[in-house]
Amino acid sequence: MALGRQGRRPEDHRPARGWIAASGWSRSSCRAAPSASLDPRPALPPLDEKAAVVEAMFDRIAPRYDLLNRLLTLRLDQRWRRVVVRHACIGAGDVVVDLGCGTGDMCTLAAAAGAQVIGVDFAFGMLTAARRRGLPADLVRADAGTLPLPAACASVITSAFALRNFVSIPQVLAEAARVLRPGGRLALLEVDEPSSAFARWGHELYFRRLVPLIGGLLSDRAAYAYLPQSTAYLPPTPELLRLITAAGFREAVKRPLSGGIAQLLFAVRCP
Ligand SMILES: C[S@@+](CC[C@H](N)C(=O)[O-])C[C@H]1O[C@@H](n2cnc3c(N)ncnc32)[C@H](O)[C@@H]1O
Repeated sequence: MALGRQGRRPEDHRPARGWIAASGWSRSSCRAAPSASLDPRPALPPLDEKAAVVEAMFDRIAPRYDLLNRLLTLRLDQRWRRVVVRHACIGAGDVVVDLGCGTGDMCTLAAAAGAQVIGVDFAFGMLTAARRRGLPADLVRADAGTLPLPAACASVITSAFALRNFVSIPQVLAEAARVLRPGGRLALLEVDEPSSAFARWGHELYFRRLVPLIGGLLSDRAAYAYLPQSTAYLPPTPELLRLITAAGFREAVKRPLSGGIAQLLFAVRCP
C-alpha cells in the first residue's frame, strides 16, 4: 500500500497529542447545550422531514455556497479539508468516496492528490454546481444512507460538514463500512465547539449570531439560521466514536482543529 506524504501507512494511525480516542474522555466532549439566548429561533426540522428540508435548503444555497464558506471561515474550510487529505494519506491508487460532496471541494483536493474520486450527494443544485466546476470526479446523486455502490469498492471514505445533516448517522456509518474495503480509512470533518469557556463564548457569538446574519444578508436566511443550530444533531464525542466503532471500525479518534472549532474523526475499517 502506498505511503502518504507523512510517510505513514494508514494502518499506522494512532492517537497523537491532541487526539481523543474512542475510549477517552475530554472536556470538549462534554459540551453544554447551546445557550438559548444566542439562538434567535429554532430552525431544525423534525426528523421525518429532515431529509427533504435539508435537500431543498442546499438546492437553494448552492449558487453562493462556496463564496459563503470561504467568507465565513476565512478560508479555514479549505485548510481543514487538506488536513483530511494528509491524515487519511490520500494518494495515487486510492478510490475515495466523498459523502455529501456538495460543490466538490473535498473531491477536488482528493483528486489533486492522485486518487480516483466518487462524490455522492442528494441535492441536485449542489451537484450541478460541482459539475459546472468540471470536477475530476464521478458524481452520483444518492442518499449517503443507501449508497448505489458495491461492497468493498473504496479505500477511503471522506465526508466534510455533512455528518450533522444526515438523518441517521449509524445508517451512513454502516454504509461507509460496507463500501470500504478492510483496512480502508474513514475521515469525517465537522464543525465543533472549543473546549475553553472563553473561546466557546467568542465562537458562540460568531457562529450563532454573526454567521446567520451574514449568511442571511448574502444568501438564505433560513439556511444560515439552520447551520449553527444543526450542531444539535451531532452526538457528543464519546458517543460519536462509539457509533463509529460499533459500525465496524477500529482506532476511532477525534482530532480538534483550529482551537476546537472544527474536528476530524478518523478510523480504520476492521478486517
Ligand atoms: C454542508 S454541505 C457540505 C458540502 C461539502 N462536503 C463541503 O465540504 O463543502 C452538506 C452536504 O451534504 C449533503 N447531504 C446531506 N444529507 C445527505 C444525504 N443523506 N445523502 C447525500 N447527501 C447529503 C447536502 O446536500 C450538502 O451538499
